Amino acid sequence: MAKSKFISVQEAIEKGKGEVNIRGWVHRERGSNKLKFLVLRDSSNIIQCILKKDVFEKRWEDIDHIQVEYCLELTGEVKEDKRAPTGYELQVKDFKIVGESDKFPITKDQSVEFLADNRHLWLRSQKMISILKIRSTVFAAIDEYFKGQGFYEYHSPIFQAVQCEGGSDLFEVKYFDKKDVFLAQTWQLYAEPAIYALEKIYTISPSFRAEKSKTSRHLTEYWHAEMEAAWCTFDELQDYGEALIKHIVKKVLETNKAELELINRDPKILDPTIKKKFVRMTYDDAIKILKDKCKMEVPWGKDLRTIEEEKLTELYDVPIIVTHYPKKVKAFYMTEDPKNPDVVLGYDMLAPEGHGEIIGASDREPNIEKIKERLKEDGEDPCEYEFYLDTRRYGSVPHAGFGLGVERVIKWICGLDNIKDTIPFPRTMERYKP
Ligand code: 4AD
Ligand code: MG
Repeated sequence: MAKSKFISVQEAIEKGKGEVNIRGWVHRERGSNKLKFLVLRDSSNIIQCILKKDVFEKRWEDIDHIQVEYCLELTGEVKEDKRAPTGYELQVKDFKIVGESDKFPITKDQSVEFLADNRHLWLRSQKMISILKIRSTVFAAIDEYFKGQGFYEYHSPIFQAVQCEGGSDLFEVKYFDKKDVFLAQTWQLYAEPAIYALEKIYTISPSFRAEKSKTSRHLTEYWHAEMEAAWCTFDELQDYGEALIKHIVKKVLETNKAELELINRDPKILDPTIKKKFVRMTYDDAIKILKDKCKMEVPWGKDLRTIEEEKLTELYDVPIIVTHYPKKVKAFYMTEDPKNPDVVLGYDMLAPEGHGEIIGASDREPNIEKIKERLKEDGEDPCEYEFYLDTRRYGSVPHAGFGLGVERVIKWICGLDNIKDTIPFPRTMERYKP
C-alpha cells in the first residue's frame, strides 16, 4: 500500500484526476464476478470506487467479502464520471482492509425505534452526518457571536442546590448523604453573581429538565446557550437575541449548503431570517392576532400553548419576539414592567414554521422583597436563595439575559419534525440508552 499522504474524499473529488490515496468506510457495495463497485465514505463526502478482477486476480476472494462498513485504505486514479453519485470515480490500483465488518444491522426502511436502539451505528448515516455538521457550525457561530460582542465565556455548576425554572421538572441526584441536589436547569442564578466581575458573559452548557412531556421539542438533556449582561436594557436584550440568531443562520447558510441539500431543506426558507427585521409584538398583540387571524381564543393570563405558538409563527417568515407576558406565567426573577405590574419585561422568541420557542429572556427583577414574595408564591424558601439575593445587596446593577435551546434552533434550521435528530444520543422521558 502506498506510503504517501492520504487526502479526504472531498479533496480527491476536487483534485478530479490523477493518483490519490483515500480511506474511509464502505457506504454501499455491489459486485459481479468481474467487478466490485464500492461507495466509500469519509467525514467529508462519498465517492464511487471500482475494483476489477483482472487487476486483483489473487486477492479477489478478499474483495468479494468486502461489505458495508468495512474500513479501507484505497489507492487509485480518480476521474470524472457523470453517472457516479458525486460525479467522480476511483479506479482502484491497491487497497488495504483496515477493519472488517460484520453484517451491518442497519439497512433501508427501518423503524424509528430500531434506529434509536442502534443510534451508535445510525450516526454514520448521511442524514446524521449532515445534521451533526450543521450542529458543529451552530456551536461555533454562538461562540463567535458572543466573543465578537466582547462577552467572556464563563462556567456555572451543574450540581445545584436550588431551582430556577420551576421545581416540578428538576432532576434530583444522589450526592453523598445530602438532600436537594439537582442538575442544572439553567446557569442563571450562578451567572448573575458573575456579571459583577465580568459584566458580559455567556456559556454553552448542558441543561436538564425532568419535564413529563413527550413532545417533538423536549429533551431531558439539552445544550443551553445563555448570556447575561450588566447594564443591558430590554431593547438591547431583544437586539442581542435577534443578532445572535441572524449570525447562526448566516453561518449555516455559508458553511452547510451541501448538508442542507442532503436533508432536503431548502435554504431559501431561511433567507428572510438574515435579511429582514424580526417581528416584535407584545403578548396582548399576540392574543389579539390569534383571535382575529386564527380564530383562537386565549384568555388573558394564560401562557401560549404549543398549538397557539404554531399558528402564530405560521403567519410570518421570520422569528417573532413576543414580549410582556403575564407575570403569573413567568419565572420569579423576571422584572415587573414599571408601567404595568401584571406583566414582565421578558420575551420568548418563536421560530417560524411552528418550531416554537427558541429563546427565553428577561430583565432581572432588582427588588429583593418582590423576588422573595414571588419565591414564596412558588413554594420556595427564600433563605435558600440568600447567595442570589446578595447580588441585589452589593452594588445592584440593572441587568438582563437569555437562554437559547441549541437543539430547538437546529431543529428549525434543519426543518426536522423531531428534536431527537439534532443531538447524537437524545435523552427523553423514555430513552436514556444507548
Ligand atoms: O425559557 P427557559 O426555561 O429559560 C431559562 O432557563 C432562563 N433561565 C434562561 C436565561 O435567561 N438564562 O429555557 C430557555 C430555552 C427555551 O427557550 C428553549 O429554547 C430551551 O431553553 N429549552 C429546551 N430545549 C430542549 N428541551 C427542553 N426540555 C427545553 N426546555 C427549554
Ligand atoms: Mg421559556
